[in-house]
Amino acid sequence: MVFDYVDGAAEGEWSMARAVEAFDRVEFSPRVLRDVADAPTSVEILGRRIEMPVVLGPTGFTRMMHREGERAVARAAADSGVPYTLSTMGTTTARDVAAAAPGGWNWFQLYVVRDRARSLEMLSLAAGAGMDVLVVTVDVPVAGARLRDVRHGLTIPPSLRWRSALQALRHPAWWFDFLTSEPLRFATVDGAPGDLAGITNMMFDPSVTVADLEWIRSAWQGKLLVKGVQRVDDAKELAAVGVDGIVVSNHGGRQLDRSPTPLELLPSVVDAVGDRTEVFLDGGVRSGADVAAAVALGARACFVGRAYLYGLMAGGEPGVRRVLDLMRAELVRTLQLLGVGGVGGLSRDAVRIRM
Ligand code: FNR
Repeated sequence: MVFDYVDGAAEGEWSMARAVEAFDRVEFSPRVLRDVADAPTSVEILGRRIEMPVVLGPTGFTRMMHREGERAVARAAADSGVPYTLSTMGTTTARDVAAAAPGGWNWFQLYVVRDRARSLEMLSLAAGAGMDVLVVTVDVPVAGARLRDVRHGLTIPPSLRWRSALQALRHPAWWFDFLTSEPLRFATVDGAPGDLAGITNMMFDPSVTVADLEWIRSAWQGKLLVKGVQRVDDAKELAAVGVDGIVVSNHGGRQLDRSPTPLELLPSVVDAVGDRTEVFLDGGVRSGADVAAAVALGARACFVGRAYLYGLMAGGEPGVRRVLDLMRAELVRTLQLLGVGGVGGLSRDAVRIRM
């Protein structure tokens, strides 16, 4: 049930499959006889240097995947020198994340909820915990239809019903761990237990528009990113209002199915607004070679979702760290085999996407 919540996507799961498959179609074009003895991976994003062009994106209910949840992920990110984004649907408070990973670059992701005062309160809690980058996710006016969750009868928090009872019998260690850890609650909002789509539709405000970025902007001193951009004209509109970054994303295929494939859309967004705002890619990234491809196509960095959650589910904090170590090693190797002496040397001519 929990694995499928992570691994699954909306409706026919076409968007998710295509996002991953687009990376399979990448063809690298390597240079030979270049000095690749050194292949530094660090880059500067939003005015700060990070160890590699990877951002751990926001994911909800992370303590459902492992009892250490957000704390484990934030610590692994801090150790690897990449940012971590705490979700509005997180199950650890901003203050606790900051305390767990004080040396990390911790960001906050906002869903605008119907109660604006509550949204403002979330911003001030995040800022109070030292978070200085806000990621406003805009692709969830209403909940997507995640059919695997519906089939399992997934509730938040998970509850024992006839379907989940069978699963509990087959995964006793998980239930034991879940039942003996701190009760799973939202850190930022009061959501009654129930199915996720119901909670989402009750809490989230579907009437949000670009104009709302104004009050968000005035309540937030730090950098502002908008996540979930899927068209060039929307990217232009956002660049015109002066956001610091745009995340080309379809929410890992968990919202509108058959939406544009992020890797394919990326170059046209970079061409349209890349000189005015930082463009990030989100969706389908599973390896360091994927990161190299996205950066070559113009992304400042890649957001990663499921890849680190698989590591978290398999092995807690060391599992997330292992995922990041693997990504970094793959990135270095890809840069060297590509004949590129570092991430800064990646350019569009290094990559072609086969049709
Ligand atoms: C997400 N995602 C997400 N995004 C967001 O802005 N707020 C959130 O609370 C969540 N929650 C969430 C839970 C889970 C289990 C997953 C898998 C994803 C979307 C996430 O940030 C990101 O857009 C996708 O995961 C990117 O696709 P990949 O990397 O998983 O292919």
